[in-house]
Amino acid sequence: MKAKYTIFIISIGFFIATACEKLLPVSPEKNTVLDGTIEELTTAETTQFLRGDAAFTKVFTTSTGLGPLFVSNSCISCHAGDGKGHPSTSLIRFGQTDETGNKFLLMGGPQLQHRAITGFNPENIPSGASQATFIAPSNTGLGFLEAVSDADILALSDPDDKDNDGISGVPNWIELANFLTPKPNAITKNGKYIGRFGRKAGAYNLFNQTVNAYNQDMGIVSAYSPNDTYSREALDHKCRACLWSSQIIYCCSRFLVDFANHFQ
Ligand code: HEC
Repeated sequence: MKAKYTIFIISIGFFIATACEKLLPVSPEKNTVLDGTIEELTTAETTQFLRGDAAFTKVFTTSTGLGPLFVSNSCISCHAGDGKGHPSTSLIRFGQTDETGNKFLLMGGPQLQHRAITGFNPENIPSGASQATFIAPSNTGLGFLEAVSDADILALSDPDDKDNDGISGVPNWIELANFLTPKPNAITKNGKYIGRFGRKAGAYNLFNQTVNAYNQDMGIVSAYSPNDTYSREALDHKCRACLWSSQIIYCCSRFLVDFANHFQ
């Protein structure tokens, strides 16, 4: 009786094991996943990649610097699996420039922070502002684009669609933010540099885009982009001033994000 019982259990076990093998999908090949490294990286580059990957998935809270106004609490929440986002995690930018400038920059623009930590009110879009909704694009393979030289981008551009293929690439010449170092062999036009990333290629490099994302999407300031989305003040001064106040946690902790660590 006991032997029969054991055989029964073993057969069930075997059945489950082989059935699962058929039911479970096999892991994808390493070179086909979107959020992995490419094969040619050195050990140091792989370490750098993994550090960035960890930062990308890190979920921020008030004690690690989130807010006081924000859109989301991690990079990956919008760029799901390093891929593209979803309408439910989109972000809204608003405002427009007229002959007097963009007055909406003083009313919370250019990006809507529709969430806030306790004790703060999220932003609303001021009346009269035009707005647009953006869904996060994929973050895969962007290092390749960063490595393309300015000369190649210019050679590939075709503003007037002279080759008649219906595609007219137009480089976006941007002011270089003061915390950025130009690429070797950078080509300039009237003191401006070629943008590569983000909306209308407005960011010079991935570092630039990331600094902006920390600030505008998560309310996390840094030495590179110290202006707080809420007070609009540079928090390095404010941080020192509030050392003695009860707000120390929300205001100073945001300075602790060590970008250099992610990029060196
Ligand atoms: C609230 C959603 C959201 C969060 C959070 C977010 N992003 Fe994005 N990201 C976007 C959207 C939308 C765009 C495209 C529009 C733009 O550039 O502003 C974008 C663009 C980018 C691009 C440019 C992609 C390209 O093809 O040019 C990079 C790189 C990027 N994000 C990295 C990050 C990093 C790093 C973080 C975290 C520090 C982050 N994002 C957090 C929504 C988000």
